[in-house]
Amino acid sequence: MSREPASSIPLLKSKIQKSPVPVHIGVIMDGNGRWAKKQGLNRNEGHRKGAQVIDGLLETASDLGVRVISLYAFSTENWKRPATEISALFNLLDEFILSKLEKMKANSIRLKVSGNLKKIPKNSRQLVENAIIETEKNKKIVLNFCINYGSMDELERAVTLVIQRRVEKISAKKNPWDNSAIKNILKKVDYKEIHSALDTHDIPDVDLLIRTSGEMRLSNFMLLQSAYAELYFTDTLWPDFSDIHLMQAIEEFQKRNRKFGGIDE
Ligand code: FPP
Repeated sequence: MSREPASSIPLLKSKIQKSPVPVHIGVIMDGNGRWAKKQGLNRNEGHRKGAQVIDGLLETASDLGVRVISLYAFSTENWKRPATEISALFNLLDEFILSKLEKMKANSIRLKVSGNLKKIPKNSRQLVENAIIETEKNKKIVLNFCINYGSMDELERAVTLVIQRRVEKISAKKNPWDNSAIKNILKKVDYKEIHSALDTHDIPDVDLLIRTSGEMRLSNFMLLQSAYAELYFTDTLWPDFSDIHLMQAIEEFQKRNRKFGGIDE
């Protein structure tokens, strides 16, 4: 893999710090399997190497002033993989939480999860839920692990929650099922109400979406939250993705002209 000389890192860093950096970066961490194959290793070794790069990137992102980083660690479709690979991925998640919790606390990193945790192994769920509580007051950067996450599933859960909230509000009334109550249940659902029920209700939308390994798809990742994200695709395989690659992606982001459907002033 070709790497920039180390001396160019501070230079690149100071250059990109002169312009606004993306507030929220989403990452589809792809290419672990191909990386492993190229090294003559098994796929799980690729995931292990992939997990190892997260820490450094988080530190760089935090230093640069990025406020949220969302990592697609396990999708709702990844259950189709062999059981051994699935369990290796959850073991890596457990190891990550166990080994990085103290560092997250020291570096003011708040752990958040997007996705349906009900279906993941109990042990992983307990570790994640505990780390969320232990880091909830941290303010510097949010690490949003997307685990058993898929936009379609998120939307299904959000719409269900919207209906549940409406029904609960009405059920609390003295005379719940009169005509006005039914009208209230059936009133138009606006995006604000849906947004309040999304996993990402408490973080801003994605500004920069990075996908590694040369694939050019969104694969059910943050489809609503990326409505106006700048997309950045790189051939680099995830285990090779380093802080310099992150800075290059941010540099590219800073060259884009974001109009959000409007026109240039
Ligand atoms: C895609 O690569 C990657 C994943 C499905 C999992 C991403 C997971 C990690 C980076 C490690 C997990 C770490 C933690 C801490 C949860 P692929 O396997 O589809 O690669 P390929 O397309 O080359 O086969």
